[in-house]
Amino acid sequence: MIDERERVEYVRVPVRHAAPTFAQDVLTGLTGKQKSLRALYFYDDVGSALFDAITKLDAYYLTRAETEILRESSWEIVRALDSPPEFFELGSGSAEKTRLLIDDAIRAHGSLRYSPVDISASALHGSAKRLTASFPDLRIRAYEGDYFDVLASPQLQFDGRVLAMFMGSNIGNLDPQETSTLLMALGRALRPGDGLLLGADLKKDRAILERAYDDPAGVTAAFDKNLLVRINREFDGDFDLADFRHVAEYDERRGVVESYLEALRPVYVRLAALDTTIHFAREERIHTESSYKYDIEQLHRLGVECGFVPQREWFDRGHRFTVTLLVRA
Ligand code: AVI
Repeated sequence: MIDERERVEYVRVPVRHAAPTFAQDVLTGLTGKQKSLRALYFYDDVGSALFDAITKLDAYYLTRAETEILRESSWEIVRALDSPPEFFELGSGSAEKTRLLIDDAIRAHGSLRYSPVDISASALHGSAKRLTASFPDLRIRAYEGDYFDVLASPQLQFDGRVLAMFMGSNIGNLDPQETSTLLMALGRALRPGDGLLLGADLKKDRAILERAYDDPAGVTAAFDKNLLVRINREFDGDFDLADFRHVAEYDERRGVVESYLEALRPVYVRLAALDTTIHFAREERIHTESSYKYDIEQLHRLGVECGFVPQREWFDRGHRFTVTLLVRA
């Protein structure tokens, strides 16, 4: 067995454009006409643990449905391209579901190179440690950085056929413009014949979607309100969580669940470290997240517009979620 250190390589990709800081985003987001906070700030330690709890909820069917598809079909998926691919995964997180694909790829092809991309160094280190411990025939080249920086970086290297992955309905948290930009950047990084595997949630009944994003146990509400807890902690704020409620609304025309924190009464919130006071009118909302839902035709159209050819799709038994394979034209 090869030593773990020889099987794992970390690549830190420098930022091309300095991103706004949390403080700048909070100031712009909470002082604009439509108040908003960027969903990327959900994931501090408490937020990540709450998201993990969400994925286990009965109401939040997405993770279970995608896992079911991978359990049933990973053997087909890893053999769907014309030659054995290396894996390249955007937003790999803990890479728990990817294990199913890794396991079958090694079974089918003998060995595998897996290149996860994540903004969190600790997520990359944790998953690399666990994966190399489980799979002696796995090599990892982990990229720490922003997706777009990694995709445009000369440090990005592939040896042969590639199966890129963007799973877990992460595509749903991008707006249509961002989605096209990302798929086009992926298209530029891949070669003809390479694959792109997308895990996307399907459009469905409003009641099912709104329950998934506002579960009866209140875990999603706590996840959403944790943004306020984080702002209080980092900017010496005095948000009172009891002044706000979590709201999830499905906009059927646009196919998106929008999440908000809504003020239950008029409130003033002081953020001492930012030397700012913010006023909320009764029922005024902070937009916190968009979760777009797809249908197959839409995913195919999107793929074609970005230089891919739809190849195959898989569904869970309840037809709630899809894993779709596009091939770079
Ligand atoms: C990470 N992302 C795909 C989740 C979603 O379904 O939009 C985040 C989430 N927000 C509330 N529940 C789950």
